[in-house]
Amino acid sequence: MTKKFYITTPLYYVNSVPHIGHAYTTIAQDILARYKRQQGFDVHYLTGTDEHGANIEKTAAANNVTPKAWADSVAEKYKEMWKQLNISYDDFIRTTDPHHEHVVQAIFEKLLKTGDIYLGSYSGKYCMSCEQYYNDSEILEGNLCPVHKRPLTEVHEETYFFKLSRYEKPLLKYYEEHPEFLSPKTRANEIINFVKGGLQDLSVTRTKVAWGIPVPSNPKHTIYVWFDALINYISGAGFGTHICDDKTEHEAQLKKIGVATFEDLWPADLHMVGKEIFRFHTVIWPAVLMALNLPLPKKVFAHGWWTVEGEKMSKSLGNIVNPAEVAEKYGVDPVRAFLFREVPFGQDGDFSMASFKNRYNSDLANNIGNLLSRTLNMAAKNIGDLPETITGNYKLLAKAGEVEKIIDAAYDELAFDKVLEQIYGFASDLNKLVDEKKPWELAKTDPAATKEVLLELVACLRYVAKWLTPFMPTIGPEMARRLQPGKIEKYPPLFPRLEK
Ligand code: MSP
Repeated sequence: MTKKFYITTPLYYVNSVPHIGHAYTTIAQDILARYKRQQGFDVHYLTGTDEHGANIEKTAAANNVTPKAWADSVAEKYKEMWKQLNISYDDFIRTTDPHHEHVVQAIFEKLLKTGDIYLGSYSGKYCMSCEQYYNDSEILEGNLCPVHKRPLTEVHEETYFFKLSRYEKPLLKYYEEHPEFLSPKTRANEIINFVKGGLQDLSVTRTKVAWGIPVPSNPKHTIYVWFDALINYISGAGFGTHICDDKTEHEAQLKKIGVATFEDLWPADLHMVGKEIFRFHTVIWPAVLMALNLPLPKKVFAHGWWTVEGEKMSKSLGNIVNPAEVAEKYGVDPVRAFLFREVPFGQDGDFSMASFKNRYNSDLANNIGNLLSRTLNMAAKNIGDLPETITGNYKLLAKAGEVEKIIDAAYDELAFDKVLEQIYGFASDLNKLVDEKKPWELAKTDPAATKEVLLELVACLRYVAKWLTPFMPTIGPEMARRLQPGKIEKYPPLFPRLEK
């Protein structure tokens, strides 16, 4: 058995409902998953929900339900959203899944034995929304959280610490020897400098939070949500068979995901995360893995943040974009593609309906959709049945091979924007060919030459359909179907033009 290509999203908190920001991370990994499957990789794509912690406890209480009942309902909403957006994940993990909870507990007890976790006490400034302590250098004026700009709470508690400080040098060495681990490169220095600045041991339990996984040997403590949630990447891969006494549920997990052993998945090939949680994934998580003597993920990639019409998305502003609503109106595939054409992957971007409609019309309706319609209309008149293989001394068909190489290289650096740029650019070239050759006029004087032009276009469009498929899992195959060998039928436009 060969190792699978294992990719993950963060686990989404269940204290809010899914929005375009969550969809962004998830669609990104879905595009990669679909591309890799096209390339013949055996992909395993894991996503899920992060369900413990004080925030969720509070949200559930405010809604008069138990935290578990609350988590159940929101986890369902995530699953529905992923179905609507056509996300091809292989497994959905919830941090309340018993097999996950048991791995977290076993790891905690193991690290207690090795001395990587020890009991101490802590006092500090805590952000309830981040579920994180901040030190004085990070706190904003007025005792505010640097992320949420809300007042921090002074917390004193007996707590277990994870010996993060022990891993300062090993982490720096790892970053140096594996430059692709911190991706994109533009975000690497921030992490390297942070670690060089010195790591403090990390508080990994709470006595005031009831809604969490209890420490088996001292159940008045529950395990810190981040320590709990990060472990999903290995509990979801069946690590329980290595660390838990009762292996039954972990063997069941392996069976569920269709692998024989944990090593068929681990190490992960890529953790995709938003920039604000890059540090958790590139400092704390690898240190925990080092403590467990496990190999580290090959790459962690941080993408940027979306604002909406120039504003930060927030409940109070009422400007949270629900991607399913936009998709219902304009189609899932155009929304998926828009998010990755509008902004270079890795950078921040702004979502606006005006820009969505502009791109829809220019990239999709006028460029690709129009090209396909006119090619098929003319081909129906001038070729008849479409052949299976099309060969010939065609300039643009030769270029398709070159474009494909550029696309593969762009995927290697997760430059989804560049992939789309290549696809749309190539479609423009094809449109130019049509404008130059004017097959509708040429047909009157030179039917043989007309046929050649149209065959070249069909052959090239078959490439375009294939390239679009990871971004547009419905429309790409539909385009390929229209171009398949045989009789050409009458089809409605692939992308009906939108009114401004
Ligand atoms: N539960 C943690 C992750 C634990 S992973 C072991 C968490 N959850 S989250 O629900 O807050 O966010 C998860 C993802 O959504 C992050 O990748 C984050 O970047 C993304 N986004 C949330 N809002 C966003 C935008 N406005 N724009 C882009 N992505 C953002 O963090």
